[in-house]
Amino acid sequence: MPCIVVVGGQWGDEGKGKIVDHLTDRVQVVVRYQGGPNAGHTVVVGGKRFALRHLPSGILRPGVLSVIGNGVVLDPASLLEEIGSLKASGVRVDDNLRISDRAHVILPEHRTLDAESEEARGDARIGTTQRGIGPAYESKVARLGIRTGDLRNADRLRAKLEAYRAARFVRLSGPAAAHDPAKVLEDYLAFGEALDPYVADTVDLLHRRLDAEEGILFEGAQGTLLDLDHGTYPFVTSSNSTAGGACTGTGVGPAQITGVLGVFKAYSSRVGSGPFPTEQKEEVGDRIRERGREYGTVTGRPRRCGWFDAVLARYSVRVNSMRTAALTLCDVLDEFESIPVAVAHEYRGERLPTLPGDTEILSDCRPVYEVLPGWREVIREAKRFEELPHQCRAYVDRLEELIGCEIALVSVGPERERTLQRPGSRLEQWLPGPAGRA
Ligand code: IMP
Repeated sequence: MPCIVVVGGQWGDEGKGKIVDHLTDRVQVVVRYQGGPNAGHTVVVGGKRFALRHLPSGILRPGVLSVIGNGVVLDPASLLEEIGSLKASGVRVDDNLRISDRAHVILPEHRTLDAESEEARGDARIGTTQRGIGPAYESKVARLGIRTGDLRNADRLRAKLEAYRAARFVRLSGPAAAHDPAKVLEDYLAFGEALDPYVADTVDLLHRRLDAEEGILFEGAQGTLLDLDHGTYPFVTSSNSTAGGACTGTGVGPAQITGVLGVFKAYSSRVGSGPFPTEQKEEVGDRIRERGREYGTVTGRPRRCGWFDAVLARYSVRVNSMRTAALTLCDVLDEFESIPVAVAHEYRGERLPTLPGDTEILSDCRPVYEVLPGWREVIREAKRFEELPHQCRAYVDRLEELIGCEIALVSVGPERERTLQRPGSRLEQWLPGPAGRA
């Protein structure tokens, strides 16, 4: 049965939520495996816009089980609010959501530390979402973390909160230490009670589902270039957003994964600091931002925008073993006469073969562009790939060649139905559509 990882190929915000939503009627389970409320997956269904932060996009399909895996760090207050607002919109959540008892929780101290550490970095700040993600993963790695499974046991939670504070703040004063311990304990016990119906051993649950031959989609958050190990360190997030994270973040072994689907924007965007060789700071960047509504789902920050970078995309294909991909937001490029694509990076007169480990080198690279003709036509009404203007199809074909991976899906608008699947793709073999199911 299919066990497919959907992973962002750039710096996040590639439209993974929309692609996962498009594919959820072909599987029984959708799992988030890393990140937390720093993610903002937008899905438009029936004209209604849903901004998901913790919850897998599968939550919008009745009958599909949504799982928050052990690799996620969750903010209980914000998760409960998200659940509440989905319920208020008529989405069924209670039977369809399970949260790993091993997932770590974000404390108020983590959020404060995130803000303070950004402040302390000054000009070298990462531009985090300030949701406490980095400090929560730090606690996990330091073996001081609190897991959802700890929230229902008052004695254990009290002891763990004390141990965390003793190790982190005993010699510190200031805002991070100033959260009232008794209040945090009371709040987190209440969160534990509210989340209890959802908390489960999701490792066992997922394996039982696999044994029953059910299909699973793993929904990555952020993107390959924000991966803690493989991204543009230190301007990255604190988890493994690459496909490998799907195994550690859920307890499903690598041999069970049957394929990796990459999601790329037809151009590039980035929020926060860090190198971005194809960034367009002037009018072109502004045009892409306005047409693509490139403002953060979580923070509302304007995203930095630029051309597609095939060198970095090829790197993403490699480190994730992507064998098929989706190209999103193609309609944003409708009005451009010509569309440059970076096909190489030059550093001090030399061409670099791949993403350099040294982020400073990437900052000093000059992209070498190939300029492709634009289509200058509205494409959002296209119902099939063949209906797209030939320059648009040629753009997709050229990107496919440059990145070394088939592009099976082309998205031409935010709505669920504006996703065109190319016939005869590998994706079709991996995940036959409902009509093609045996
Ligand atoms: P953090 O994940 O909040 O620690 O932020 C680290 C970096 O990752 C910052 O540059 C953020 O803007 C970026 N980031 C985190 N989550 C997302 C996302 O979902 N989309 C795009 N960028 C993200």
